[in-house]
Amino acid sequence: MPVKRPAPEDLEPIERASRAELRALQLERLKWTIAHAYENVPHYRRKFDAAGVKPSDLNALEDLAKFPFTTKADLRDNYPFGLFAVPREKVVRIHASSGTTGKPTVVGYTQRDIDTWSTVMARSIRAAGGRAGDMVHVAYGYGLFTGGLGAHYGAEKLGCTVIPMSGGMTERQVQLIVDFKPDIIMVTPSYMLAIAEEMERQGIDPKSTSLKVGIFGAEPWTPAMRQAIEAKVGMDAIDIYGLSEIIGPGVAQECIETKDGLTVWEDHFYPEIIDPETKQVLPEGEKGELVFTTLTKEALPMIRYRTRDLTRLLPPTARSMRRIEKITGRSDDMLIIRGVNVFPTQVEELILKQPELTPYYMLEVTRPEALDELTVHVEMGQELAQGSQQVRHEAARKLEHNIKAYIGVTATVRLALPGGIERSIGKAKRILDKRPK
Ligand code: DLL
Repeated sequence: MPVKRPAPEDLEPIERASRAELRALQLERLKWTIAHAYENVPHYRRKFDAAGVKPSDLNALEDLAKFPFTTKADLRDNYPFGLFAVPREKVVRIHASSGTTGKPTVVGYTQRDIDTWSTVMARSIRAAGGRAGDMVHVAYGYGLFTGGLGAHYGAEKLGCTVIPMSGGMTERQVQLIVDFKPDIIMVTPSYMLAIAEEMERQGIDPKSTSLKVGIFGAEPWTPAMRQAIEAKVGMDAIDIYGLSEIIGPGVAQECIETKDGLTVWEDHFYPEIIDPETKQVLPEGEKGELVFTTLTKEALPMIRYRTRDLTRLLPPTARSMRRIEKITGRSDDMLIIRGVNVFPTQVEELILKQPELTPYYMLEVTRPEALDELTVHVEMGQELAQGSQQVRHEAARKLEHNIKAYIGVTATVRLALPGGIERSIGKAKRILDKRPK
């Protein structure tokens, strides 16, 4: 498949700017953001005052480290609109993400914020190989979730034809893909698998469709999953990252010509990596927690927001801006099983090394007595499901062995029949934690 490298004149000037130009713009915008938050959000003013910092203390980008962090708890404590920096009447859109416990996280946008978001999303789709005139099938959920509408506005802004399908109704997804012939699909990688499976059920080879590019995000997925999807669907699978608190999808985007991590749209979102324990800023290249400060957001400026996502900052390649390494886990998803840290994606990589297994899996943690126990439920492929007891036994033992050898934890593998693991229509649920609270 010919990869569409963008011609330099197709890029926005800032995407090809020098580091110095970019940093100068960042500093100017950061000063504005810090002052905007301090002057208009009592919560930020209190926090800055308590930490003994004032907007005038910010004279270089590095000075940001003097300012306090913002966490999900700050949003929760100011539920629903307490962190808004503009009068409610200036807020043209609300989104919310459902937390695992209690109240949702609420975010708001001014008209200019919506324009900014559309711009970074249009840029993201272009980086993934999309062009004006392409047809884009959006299967991210529309509604309070930022995925659907974020993708929608970006694709329109780029000049694409948008199919606002939303998530669910998998048979209908397939029908519209076959009949309308979109070039691009935007969806979670786990739901892409379910759509491809439905195609096969209908006797359609997923490779035979018009889809050339998938823009996949909203959940962690591994390089092995990329290979599996690219092989199954015959497309380029490109990673998109974002979070509601910062804007939604379109905070960082992988470029199709390099597929080497995600370029952070640094003219709007300033990244830092910190050590989650000491909270110190780590040098470029070291792995830690990703922290973002918005540079242009009006309704909901975020100062040093702790994302809980684990990654490292990498130097620029395809664009002038720095990249983040593919995010394969967030600290909230990290299971600690008998002292060993386990991410679902680590298990995913090992499952995908065994072609007789499928990428449908779930990790169950229990504590029958004093110790945690990990059970990995994974669905068999058709062939294995029809194979002998002996072959199945060997497949399960092989995975158990690899989990012990590569991750260092003892797990019991339970093979499920095809269709036995629930399909996601949005973000996949990979962990079933049955431990007593
Ligand atoms: O998931 C926004 C989004 C929509 C991104 C569509 C990409 C595509 P939230 O629901 O607030 O927003 O969840 C944000 O999802 O902190 C990560 O933990 C995770 N996440 C998002 N994109 C990726 C990705 C949207 N590409 C949280 N890789 C983030 C790994 C991701 N994790």
